[in-house]
Amino acid sequence: MRKLILAGNWKMNKGAASAAADLARGVAAEVGSVSEVDVVLCPPFTSLRPVVDAVKGTRIAVGAQNMYPEDSGAFTGEISPLDLLDCGCKYVILGHSERRTIFKETNEFINKKVICALAKGLIPIMCIGETEQERVDGKTEAVVENHLKGGLAGLTAEQVQTVVIAYEPVWAIGTGKTASPDDAQAVHKFCRDWLTAAYDQATAQAVRIQYGGSMKPDNAHDLLGQPDIDGGLIGGASLKVDSFVGIIRNSGAL
Ligand code: PGA
Repeated sequence: MRKLILAGNWKMNKGAASAAADLARGVAAEVGSVSEVDVVLCPPFTSLRPVVDAVKGTRIAVGAQNMYPEDSGAFTGEISPLDLLDCGCKYVILGHSERRTIFKETNEFINKKVICALAKGLIPIMCIGETEQERVDGKTEAVVENHLKGGLAGLTAEQVQTVVIAYEPVWAIGTGKTASPDDAQAVHKFCRDWLTAAYDQATAQAVRIQYGGSMKPDNAHDLLGQPDIDGGLIGGASLKVDSFVGIIRNSGAL
């Protein structure tokens, strides 16, 4: 059975050490010893260390929101995977739709990052998903397939099993509009079938596919109860202890 993975994507919030440590400590006090699900906090770079310190001794893991696929060098403004590891990161979010749209990240670039993260020992959380227009135009499956194919290019079956996929319909991110459990499940199933065809059944069954997009305590249970939804990537609701912990408690796994 795949273990649910619930990750808080704090985006460009809680970058100050004290605010980040407060939130992390608050989450840790409530769910720090939970072993039924994997809990991950992804703060901005400047609060990685304070958050790692705040969750030390608990089961909570820490992830970054991006990285550059080189060890070091002349890449002004970027962050090396080695530095993320040094900070205590276990995960790294890659190819979030905000990176794809605002920062023009391509599948090819995201693929380089995924390969590099795996090589360094970081677990990539690779984001995929269609825009509202693409959904209206009936292109959801084509877009998701394109993101999977491009982002995972060149990976072995063994490597793919380590990757966490986050299906995040762009129209549901930060909008309060959530995909219905049935609609989300349909896309997750499509992704798993694609993985079966591209690799094999055992690989497809091992990959965890999170849903992201306005997940909250009151919709978490129905979404996470779907057979192919293996967790959540949570933005807005991860910025408050009550709502993030509420999602974990309503996940159906505790
Ligand atoms: P949201 O963001 O939960 O605020 O919709 C999710 C995400 O962008 O990862």
